[in-house]
Amino acid sequence: MSKVTVVGAGNVGATCANVLAVNEVANEVVLIDIKEGFAEGKAMDIMQTAQLMGFDTVVTGVTGDYSKTANSDVVVITSGLPRKPGMTREELIGVNAGIVKSVAESALKYSPNAILIIVSNPMDPMAYLALNTLGLPRNRVIGMGGALDSSRFKYYLSQAMDCNQNEVEGLVIGGHGDTTMIPLTRLATYKGIPVSTFLSEEKLEEVAKATMVGGATLTGLLGTSAWMAPGAAASYLTESIIKNQKKMIVCAASLEGEYGMNDIMIGVPCIIGSNGIENIIELELDAKEKEQLAASEKAVRATNAILKEMKLI
Ligand code: 2OP
Repeated sequence: MSKVTVVGAGNVGATCANVLAVNEVANEVVLIDIKEGFAEGKAMDIMQTAQLMGFDTVVTGVTGDYSKTANSDVVVITSGLPRKPGMTREELIGVNAGIVKSVAESALKYSPNAILIIVSNPMDPMAYLALNTLGLPRNRVIGMGGALDSSRFKYYLSQAMDCNQNEVEGLVIGGHGDTTMIPLTRLATYKGIPVSTFLSEEKLEEVAKATMVGGATLTGLLGTSAWMAPGAAASYLTESIIKNQKKMIVCAASLEGEYGMNDIMIGVPCIIGSNGIENIIELELDAKEKEQLAASEKAVRATNAILKEMKLI
């Protein structure tokens, strides 16, 4: 029996629960929120699609009662405010840090062995906060950003090449921020063939830029943060854990010397299995990519420093 808790029944949390159910990632999904009746309503709505979609996963909703989340294998944390148009993810830190810390503590109390997936923004510092306040080993705290950013990268690459998205491979490393993420165009492939075979340097630059502001573009169009791809990305990571798929997924991981960094959570390719982050893949970066990663590191550290100023860690 596998059980997943999704904390926060807003757009991202409810979408994640829905994708988990439709894909039958776990036997049981508990959606929890503080707003009275909200998670119950979202869960009921999802369950009324079970016959239509043909899934057997049981989704339940609860208001604030963490005892119902007990013994979850994975806890996905989506709580907090989303971005409004024109806002950076980093601007959310003041409000979201307190929320993430308290919900993570409550969830861990009832699921002491769970693997945490942090979705709330600013994602890298929120994952860093969870890691540093909960006393968990680093394999059990995962930041979702890179999974989403890499998916957006593949989308934009496939648009540019007018090809099937599922035949494109690409990684986005670094922070989950409009200026901190690094789409690795040099390593991206279409059917194993470098994308530079099909796209000019200029076009690749355009794709990288579009990927970096992918979240902001959607926030502008929707009036709030995106939720379909963020929810699906959290489910994708969860599936690799629950089914021990050992997929290579970019996510914010705590680094202990990898990429020459320590005491930071930032996006790098990881092998995700039943133990969470089972391995960190160290890529050979070229000089430009190293420079970009160093700039990204600096930006993520600056946001982490705010957590220290706020005395949250
Ligand atoms: C995004 O990039 C919400 O940060 C998320 O859409």
